[in-house]
Amino acid sequence: MYEESIRDEFTHQTESFARSPVATRADTLDALVAMAPADPAARWLEVACGPGLISRALAGRVGSVHGVDLTPSMVEKAAAEARREGIENADFALGDATALDFEDASFDGAITRFSFHHIPGPRRVLEEMARVVRPGGFVIVADHLADSDRDACAWAGEIERLRDPSHWSCLTEEWFRTTGAAVGLELEESTVDPLEIDFEDWLARGSGAAVAAPLIERLLTEPPPRAGAFRVDGEPGAPRTLRLLFLACRWSRP
Ligand SMILES: C[S@@+](CC[C@H](N)C(=O)[O-])C[C@H]1O[C@@H](n2cnc3c(N)ncnc32)[C@H](O)[C@@H]1O
Repeated sequence: MYEESIRDEFTHQTESFARSPVATRADTLDALVAMAPADPAARWLEVACGPGLISRALAGRVGSVHGVDLTPSMVEKAAAEARREGIENADFALGDATALDFEDASFDGAITRFSFHHIPGPRRVLEEMARVVRPGGFVIVADHLADSDRDACAWAGEIERLRDPSHWSCLTEEWFRTTGAAVGLELEESTVDPLEIDFEDWLARGSGAAVAAPLIERLLTEPPPRAGAFRVDGEPGAPRTLRLLFLACRWSRP
């Protein structure tokens, strides 16, 4: 059921996500990839790789990258784009972030972006990423955050799910810190930066928007007092900006 919802949504979004400004922005891609130490011998895994934007950016910095994703059209898109760009050290396959089909300690690093908020039981993903990385290796996770205020978190979650039914739940910065430690990882670096997105582009990409847009517009007029991690600036009919908070963390595996 959950997997079906993911595959339906990301089959729908394969092309639009792959060319969206929020996914392709060079500054966010470069900053994230720079968290992986340059090492021509290192073998990396990208979890929930989508169209392989991170894998393709990382491939110039490390020995090889293997990307896995639940959605077949995303895996095909990632492979086609890597071929088109002449990248020979990145490959892609179907795979589930909650049950990675790899031996323990089989990679030097594992990375994922914009995936945790789609996955029920996200601790399992962090456990799996930690498991497949060798001692001394790295786990890098980036995602947009939830407010710790319950009303603000619930309000943003409703808007997110109405727009994209595969959205599960954004997580707090505190969740990433405590869960990383709980699965035995050592936090080395963590940044939270504002992320600005063209709201109309973001809305149109989700498969739910066509039906739910009026309800989303109504919810936008009723933000809870402590909403901070999800904000829309501007008026309907004019360009609007969605302001999120984007977390990027690097842990090492002792
Ligand atoms: C918003 S896209 C992000 C793609 C990519 N990580 C990026 O940032 O460019 C989310 C991706 O997560 C994938 N996904 C969701 N749940 C997954 C799971 N349990 N295992 C593997 N992939 C999953 C979806 O198929 C989709 O391609």
